[in-house]
Amino acid sequence: MASVGRLAARLLRNSAFLRSGRQWQQTALNSVVAGSAQQTLSVRKRIEDMKNAALVGGGQKRIAKQHEKGKLTARERIELLLDQGSFVEYDMLLEHDCTDFGMEKEKYPGDSVVTGRGTINGRVCFVFSQDFTVFGGSLSGAHAKKICKIMDQAMLVGAPVIGLNDSGGARIQEGVESLAGYADIFQRNVNASGVVPQISLVMGPCAGGAVYSPALTDFIFMVKDTSYLFITGPDVVKSVTGETVTQEELGGAKTHTGTSGVAHKAFDNDVEALLQVRDFFNFLPLSNDDPSPVRECTDPWDREVAGLDTVVPLETTAAYDIKDVITGVADDSEFFEIMPMYAKNIVVGFARMNGRTVGMVGNQPKVAAGCLDINSSVKGARFVRFCDAFNIPIVTFVDVPGFLPGTNQEYGGIIRHGAKLLFAYAEATVPKITVITRKAYGGAYDVMSSKHLRGDTNYAWPTAEVAVMGAKGAVSIIFRGEDQSKNEAEYVEKFANPFPASKRGFVDDIIEPRATRKQICLDLNVLASKKRGNPWKKHANMPL
Ligand code: HXC
Repeated sequence: MASVGRLAARLLRNSAFLRSGRQWQQTALNSVVAGSAQQTLSVRKRIEDMKNAALVGGGQKRIAKQHEKGKLTARERIELLLDQGSFVEYDMLLEHDCTDFGMEKEKYPGDSVVTGRGTINGRVCFVFSQDFTVFGGSLSGAHAKKICKIMDQAMLVGAPVIGLNDSGGARIQEGVESLAGYADIFQRNVNASGVVPQISLVMGPCAGGAVYSPALTDFIFMVKDTSYLFITGPDVVKSVTGETVTQEELGGAKTHTGTSGVAHKAFDNDVEALLQVRDFFNFLPLSNDDPSPVRECTDPWDREVAGLDTVVPLETTAAYDIKDVITGVADDSEFFEIMPMYAKNIVVGFARMNGRTVGMVGNQPKVAAGCLDINSSVKGARFVRFCDAFNIPIVTFVDVPGFLPGTNQEYGGIIRHGAKLLFAYAEATVPKITVITRKAYGGAYDVMSSKHLRGDTNYAWPTAEVAVMGAKGAVSIIFRGEDQSKNEAEYVEKFANPFPASKRGFVDDIIEPRATRKQICLDLNVLASKKRGNPWKKHANMPL
């Protein structure tokens, strides 16, 4: 009995102990919950504070300075570029980890670049926007890491990368860390080349080795008066070569769109530049796996263009504007010209035919009679290669008297550079449609997407002249010392027309100029399923 009593007493004690234990547990739990709620609140507050700090970059004073220069901030630019509300930011809280020169005390969430993804008219793209208000947009290891991350994702999903550049170059305080970051980006630029379109918009300084990332991308656009690109600035130029030159003269938009050919187009200000890039983006496929984009077209595909019947002057040496031909055939006369200020003797750019993006190439009789020279060959070659890499059909309008002769051109390597255009057309496997509007002389006839370089459909207008050279030059060689005028007339009768080429099947048909749009649209429909490759190789060795 006694043992039962002891057991009962023990149970009673235990239950009292258990009760008090439970109470203690409850109290402890309550205080943990309250503590962690407190903690969660403070973490939330910290996140909010850091995100708010990231939103103002280097602070209001520096933002005001940026605005004073007529420039938008990195975030304002992204807002304008992307569809409203579509921006998804990455690494907003990532910071630099430099501890030299007191840098550990100067940190900004997100560092000097804003990165992420979004859409332009509903189509995805990845974007980085350098923030000049944080250390002058200079490139730290962290900054490079952020850019590399979005480039890697763009490659994974097959989407274009748009870079908004506004940077003082390498983060001086980080030394080699910054150089390594540049190289990491360069490697990705090269890997992405021909896989996803890469667009650079230079909206501020871009100097030193930093210029090579935009240079490796497909298109460089600049903003007039506020952007510049150079390897070394005016001070270094002065000390090394003695030349006095301003920043604008050395690397401004005018220099690079008109003289060096480094940039493809310049816009008046940030707003215009960003809106134009949105328009431009619509022409591009998202990747090399994507077909040429097609959008709804309200311009009748079979529209006759009567004006084209008289666009070529009766006088064979008289000039006309090849852009009248391009805009004449294009949907709604819309043409996004690339490099309009450089090598104007060739015209290149994007248009749509029955809604489908096409690359337009045309010799320009208005400038240097439309002859091919070093600059126009390189300009044309780069454009043709872009189109070929991204499945964009190429429509070529030919009116070319040949390659430009002279020591200037020969010493400059016209043979090597002219071969680039030949190489690009010969290598291209996208649909190629060619229309000879007037002259197609000599080697230039072969080069300009001729039947012999696998042109899919080749047409001549009745005004076409397909020959080795113009009548004057030809008779002066083959009838030296004889009556030139009689022989010239005979040569013109024999060669200055489309018949020799059409009789040999080198042009598929002689078409009325007014029917050109309809013919191209019909052909593009059929050629949409074209499949052609080149022999296997690691890569070609084009004459660089
Ligand atoms: C760290 C930089 C910086 C840089 C500018 N800043 N460039 N911080 N590294 N590279 C900071 C400034 O200290 C300043 O900080 C703020 O950014 C704005 O700069 P300002 O000089 O006040 O602006 P501005 O007068 O408009 O002149 C812009 C500038 C000039 C022309 C870009 O800052 C400049 O010359 N910077 C140095 C450029 C340079 O030499 N970069 C290295 C190039 S070599 P506060 O705190 O005052 O706002 C290179 C190698 C790359 O890039 C190699 C890759 C392979």
